[in-house]
Amino acid sequence: MSMYKIRNIAILGAGTMGSGIAQIAAAAGFTVYLRDISKSFLNRGLARIKRSVEKILQKGLIRISKEEILEKVIPVVSIKQIPQDDIDFVIEAIPENFELKSKTFQEIDQYFSLEVPFATNTSTIRITKLASVTQRPDKFIGIHFFNPPPLMPLVEIIPGELTSNHVLELSKDFVMSLGKEPVILKRDVPGFVVNRILAAALEEAYKLLHENVASKEDIDKAVKLGLKWPMGPFELSDFIGLDVVLAILETLKLEVDERFTPPDILIERVKKGLLGRKSGVGFYNYQK
Ligand code: CAA
Repeated sequence: MSMYKIRNIAILGAGTMGSGIAQIAAAAGFTVYLRDISKSFLNRGLARIKRSVEKILQKGLIRISKEEILEKVIPVVSIKQIPQDDIDFVIEAIPENFELKSKTFQEIDQYFSLEVPFATNTSTIRITKLASVTQRPDKFIGIHFFNPPPLMPLVEIIPGELTSNHVLELSKDFVMSLGKEPVILKRDVPGFVVNRILAAALEEAYKLLHENVASKEDIDKAVKLGLKWPMGPFELSDFIGLDVVLAILETLKLEVDERFTPPDILIERVKKGLLGRKSGVGFYNYQK
């Protein structure tokens, strides 16, 4: 066990992942400052937390009240509204874009003491590559949650080449204190474990559709009934967000190999703003 105590957390990004991580951290008793760049993004994140907490409370799974969880999540639009010296852990959950992440990392490095451990929830980008644009590579680590964070038990922990043992141990304790099950990677590779396997499976499903082997409905049905996935590959793509899937495949194509080339059926949809559930249409239509 590490002596360093985490009490207050700053989470950057109130999207699906940032708000979900904020929710489970608040439910575990941490105070969370949740930063996004606009009031409307923040409000959407808070609404998502409320809905999710209500579902969980309905089942009587946790004793803490909705109010107790919500008052532990403090929404802010500027990093400067976060008490600079009170933060013990910073988590980044902004979009999967290296330039955008680099810019945010500069902001974080300028504002929070370089002693503070800093984790990224990147889904695919190598931790060592992201660490190289921070001034605290020894304090930097990947902790990768899964959607929806309140329900998915796994968190991948990915130390970069320079991550200290202290920050690795601390991250492991933190993840376990959220009630999650960590898997610690031995090597820092793009896509880690789950997204490498997921991306390969999704590529194969897209190829089967493109080659007209079966309809997307039947491919989904086959995978659900034949492999017992809770969602088929097309439903799951819509659930993750087609923009997120595209970003994963682009990174893996560039950094691993051509197997992960994004197919036209995905690129075309993202270009048209058809991003899956969150935009109302993806492979399927959710507007009803
Ligand atoms: N918060 C709390 N509870 C939730 C919830 C949320 N956000 N979403 C769903 N639930 C609850 C529902 O209330 C429901 O509860 P009951 O069974 O008591 O009614 C239960 O979960 C099931 O929900 P639904 O009936 O609405 O739908 P479902 O049976 O299809 O389950 C699901 C939803 C849990 C998301 C399930 O479909 C599932 O596990 N899907 C696969 C998810 C997955 O693979 N995630 C990983 C994606 S990859 C990733 O995240 C990594 C990356 O980097 C891209």
